[in-house]
Amino acid sequence: MPITAIVLAAGEGTRMKSRHPKVMHKLLDRPLVGWAVRSAQDAGTDRTIVVVGSGADEVRAYLGTLDGVESVEQTERLGTGHALRTALEATDVSEGTVVVLYGDSPLLRGETVRALVDRVEDGGEAACVLTMEPPDPTGYGRVDFDEDGQVRSIIEHKDCTEEQRERLRECNSGVYAFDARELRRHIGEIGCDNVQGEYYLTDMVEILRRAGLAVTAVHCDDYSELLGVNSRVQLAQATKVMQRRINEAHMEAGVTMVDPDSVWIGPDVRIGQDTVIWPGCYLLGHTTVGAECTVGPDSRLQDATVGDNVLLDETIVVSSTVDDDVHCGPRAYLRGGAHFMRGSKAGTHVEIKGSTVGEGSKVPHLSYIGDATLGKGVNVGGGSITCNYDGKHKSHTEIGDHVFIGSDTMMVAPVTIGEGALIGASSCITKDVPAGALALERSRQYISEGWATEYFKKLEEED
Ligand code: UD1
Ligand code: CA
Repeated sequence: MPITAIVLAAGEGTRMKSRHPKVMHKLLDRPLVGWAVRSAQDAGTDRTIVVVGSGADEVRAYLGTLDGVESVEQTERLGTGHALRTALEATDVSEGTVVVLYGDSPLLRGETVRALVDRVEDGGEAACVLTMEPPDPTGYGRVDFDEDGQVRSIIEHKDCTEEQRERLRECNSGVYAFDARELRRHIGEIGCDNVQGEYYLTDMVEILRRAGLAVTAVHCDDYSELLGVNSRVQLAQATKVMQRRINEAHMEAGVTMVDPDSVWIGPDVRIGQDTVIWPGCYLLGHTTVGAECTVGPDSRLQDATVGDNVLLDETIVVSSTVDDDVHCGPRAYLRGGAHFMRGSKAGTHVEIKGSTVGEGSKVPHLSYIGDATLGKGVNVGGGSITCNYDGKHKSHTEIGDHVFIGSDTMMVAPVTIGEGALIGASSCITKDVPAGALALERSRQYISEGWATEYFKKLEEED
């Protein structure tokens, strides 16, 4: 039987004080609503429907980038019960199990959701509620149990009597699993006769019980899974929880972190065994790092593909590839499709954009290499630059195998330097250099014996 997740994400999130919908705020590289979708998918759901409302266009544009996620718009925010009804009315979900989640609760684990689904799938129960005991229950719906442990009702904080607020400590997390058939049959019975005049999804409990059906609860021991994000302070708190969770998973899999509190790793990053991450590192996007690498301190990798046994010291790698046994940094910046092949080197204060650096080639000091192809065993002297931009067009520089470029060389693209050529230091190369040639572009050195000694002597005599 199918399992369908319905993610409620229409709320405004006024406390975020933002121009963007709350669920589009990012927690470690992924919007909050993306985390909720991931919780549902990790639980093994077949289909995910997100109820959007506030900032619907922005949320929909993002959901369009995810696989198998649909959206339904709730144009008026009339409560959680109304949100779910809107989703059911707009779709054909009518059998199997429906799981309800919130778009602003990014920390919920897939296995926790799965436990609810299993209860309902086993039959006998029309709904199962995920409950919790938060340190401060203010604001949460309170769960009232029968003697036999079934849920009798959920009473919203605002609708509770003083006595109920004192006695009922177990709270509603807002996550539920429902038998789809019973949910569809009864959802229209939810009314809005309560303190807030809203359609409360929580009323489903009493409605199902009145119809003679069973409703039970699963208690979530780890309250942090249910932290909702309503403000930027809570966003930072949730990010911290997720940072710890992700870092601990990598450490358990064989990655060393010297100071995990200062390392921020996105959810789609993979890291190989025995790699060491020093403090101050950010590994984001679709980044992969191989085994036996040293990353950091103070490095940033975004959509980077890094091989084994690589050193990235104070290095930034964006949308670029670094093969095995490469050394980068300190202070190298690789971007826009740079590719360092096996055993090559990007040294100190170098910027490499959209260029391939062949096996064993070196760009050790203070250089800019853009839109170039370097063969094997090339050495680029300090301070050399590919002049790839004429104010309008970008042009290519081709450097053959084993070329030696002297320091402070300007290569005005488009230009080709043939295999094994040597460029004398401080040359401005504007014409192609044939293989095996020497190219030198600078005026002859002038010497005047004793000139300086005379000059300084004269200056001293003036005093
Ligand atoms: C809800 C529960 C409460 C529970 C708490 C846990 C109800 C009536 N109450 O209260 O028992 O303890 O969650 O956090 O369900 N939403 C929509 N459309 C709407 C209204 C809400 O999509 O019309 C979405 C919001 O974006 C949010 C979620 O549903 O993600 C919860 O809504 P919210 O109004 O915050 O519910 P609570 O009052 O916190
Ligand atoms: Ca010159």
